[in-house]
Amino acid sequence: MIYPVFLYGSPVLRKVATDIPEGFPGLDELIESLFETMYHSDGIGLAAPQIGMSLRIFVIDASPLEEEDSSLKEFKKVFINPRILLYEGEIEKYNEGCLSIPDIREDVERENAVNIGYFDRDFKYREEYYEGVAARIIQHEYDHLEGKLFTDYISPLKRRLLKRKLTSISKGKVDVKYRVKHM
Ligand code: NI
Repeated sequence: MIYPVFLYGSPVLRKVATDIPEGFPGLDELIESLFETMYHSDGIGLAAPQIGMSLRIFVIDASPLEEEDSSLKEFKKVFINPRILLYEGEIEKYNEGCLSIPDIREDVERENAVNIGYFDRDFKYREEYYEGVAARIIQHEYDHLEGKLFTDYISPLKRRLLKRKLTSISKGKVDVKYRVKHM
């Protein structure tokens, strides 16, 4: 099912999401809905709070970024109850966007690599190490589960310049082809 995407300013985007218990009814449906909603809105990642559910799960399909990094072609995954166990490597800048904050893109500094522990869709625990763009996307989606948004990282000056735009996004004044919800 395609859900509306909750916009900047929605309280659910600021909550720390809760773990999903094993055997959670409707888990498969939730995973499918996250992928469907993400593809419908041309995203490469989507976290449950963005469809109004404060649960620790996000999905990624980075294959559209294949040209940037050929390893991303196969990077399609579900992360359940993830915990980033280690951030490391150089601090790098990368231009980020977010389906919950349409029409705004900003350079964000993050570590180049992460080690992440999570459960897969069969509730098997895994630990994996990611670098580069994959680590970047993971950190962005993971932040959604912690109630953080990429705009939290930009300078106070830039944020002041974006204030009006962010306010109109929070009022639902956006021009996108996917369904959105505000507040
Ligand atoms: Ni996002």
